[in-house]
Amino acid sequence: MPPPKRSPIWQALAAHHRAARGSHLRDLLADAKRTRALTFSHDGLHLDLSKNRMTAETLDLLLALARERGVEDRRRALFAGETVNETEDRAALHMALRAQAKDGFKAQGTPVGRAVADTLARMAALTREIETGQRRGATGKRFTDVVNIGIGGSDLGPRMVCGALGPARHLTPHFVANVDAADIQDVLARLDPATTLFVVSSKTFTTQETLANAETAKRWLTRALGKRAVAAHFVAVTRNIDGATGFGLAEDNLFPIWDWVGGRYSVWSAIGLPIALAFGMPTFRALLKGARTMDRHFLETPLEKNLPVLLAMAGIWNRNFEGIAGHAVLPYDQRLGDLPIYLQQLEMESNGKSIDRDGQPVAQATAPVIFGQAGTIGQHAFYQLLHQGTDKVSSDFIAAAQGPDGPGPAKDGGGHRDKLLANFLAQPAALALGRDAGPGVPPHQTFPGNRPSTTILLDRLDPHHLGLLLALYEHKVFVQGVVWNVNSFDQFGVELGKELAAPLVDALAGGTTPRGLDPSTKALLTRVRKLRGGKKPGAKR
Ligand code: F6P
Repeated sequence: MPPPKRSPIWQALAAHHRAARGSHLRDLLADAKRTRALTFSHDGLHLDLSKNRMTAETLDLLLALARERGVEDRRRALFAGETVNETEDRAALHMALRAQAKDGFKAQGTPVGRAVADTLARMAALTREIETGQRRGATGKRFTDVVNIGIGGSDLGPRMVCGALGPARHLTPHFVANVDAADIQDVLARLDPATTLFVVSSKTFTTQETLANAETAKRWLTRALGKRAVAAHFVAVTRNIDGATGFGLAEDNLFPIWDWVGGRYSVWSAIGLPIALAFGMPTFRALLKGARTMDRHFLETPLEKNLPVLLAMAGIWNRNFEGIAGHAVLPYDQRLGDLPIYLQQLEMESNGKSIDRDGQPVAQATAPVIFGQAGTIGQHAFYQLLHQGTDKVSSDFIAAAQGPDGPGPAKDGGGHRDKLLANFLAQPAALALGRDAGPGVPPHQTFPGNRPSTTILLDRLDPHHLGLLLALYEHKVFVQGVVWNVNSFDQFGVELGKELAAPLVDALAGGTTPRGLDPSTKALLTRVRKLRGGKKPGAKR
């Protein structure tokens, strides 16, 4: 496929952008008709693109670009379970995890519905047995806590969803990801081995961090309860059966995941087990249902009204035509505090690429740097740069109209929700409108404005709407990958650092200095070893 820049529509967009160079959101927003034309809704998820520096004509051109880049055909291929992840020879069929039997998903020609349904049934059985006390710890006590041991996609999804759903109804969830022992030690320090269940989540069961933490957890448990307790207290989610049984787990305690589920798209699989254990299976199923609603919308709706496509193309406009390299995710909801880091993996691991699907260097920018924090906390940290910095940053503002109390005034006692939502409304307006110098407004108190943002308003933050929101972003990332012609489903960029770390582990444990180290790394290694004392470099362990 020729690079997007060569397409006549891309060129038309570039010309359109040049012609609108002087336009300011302050003027664009004066037109209520334009706002209506740039605002869309589906099933309680409202998307307002009108604070992006674009018009209905811009959007028409962007949609023409999406068509020309083959978004509709690639979408069909995605849902048909074709090999859309060419470098790894895999389908990417996370939609099958939240499908109904009648959807009939096949991964590279093989039906997957039965395996998915069986796994959900096993998850339901485990949660039921634990909730009812039928399955207990080795000493006969009921489980009270679940510790998820995993990293990347085997951590961020369940961690973020558990945070988003508020206080747990069943087991209290905990998450351990970092290879830094402080992570697991701090979690274990507040737990009782007799009432703790571990879920080791690792698609490959080879990930250094997860294996180290799982071994530490096993030592902690067996020291207190003996080796035989492992069978009762550990389950795993993996496709590496040998790895997990080698760790000491019985096959009965393993939940499968398949190679057509990418790590960052896996929260809908058994990787979501901590969600089911903490909130119950009906909640997990409601999350899946919300995501399926967005899948059907993405698959069946014309591009003009298709929320993931519209969100994606607004992002293309900001990244490739406005030249904006940073994108902030700003949920005005404390419980969505982990959404920015979840989307960081989803967007940056998927589309942070500079080689295209044909093996050629890309001719245009791809994923922006994603960062963010829950509003209003970020307002008192990095918003200064968003408003007055030298580089423009685009933003997504996300909130739910109704709080945990449902419709009507919030019963939070201090007007918290009104204040939260007032800030959610005010910040994107301030970014867009800005403020000029004038009487009583010195230069350092001026705001350039014209800083683009998208607003996503959910009716409420419940499992259904959360499912909708996450699937919206998944498909947005897919569409952008199609336009940029990158494979959104591999992640070879994470490998080199892992390879270089392997011999350094040995060196830090007293082994020899790896050959071929650059002088900087070698000097740092020497300094670390000196400061840590202990064995001399090169000495046998
Ligand atoms: O290092 C990146 C990565 O491969 C992610 O894509 C993945 O989510 C994570 O590591 C964890 O992998 P695993 O589930 O195999 O332990």
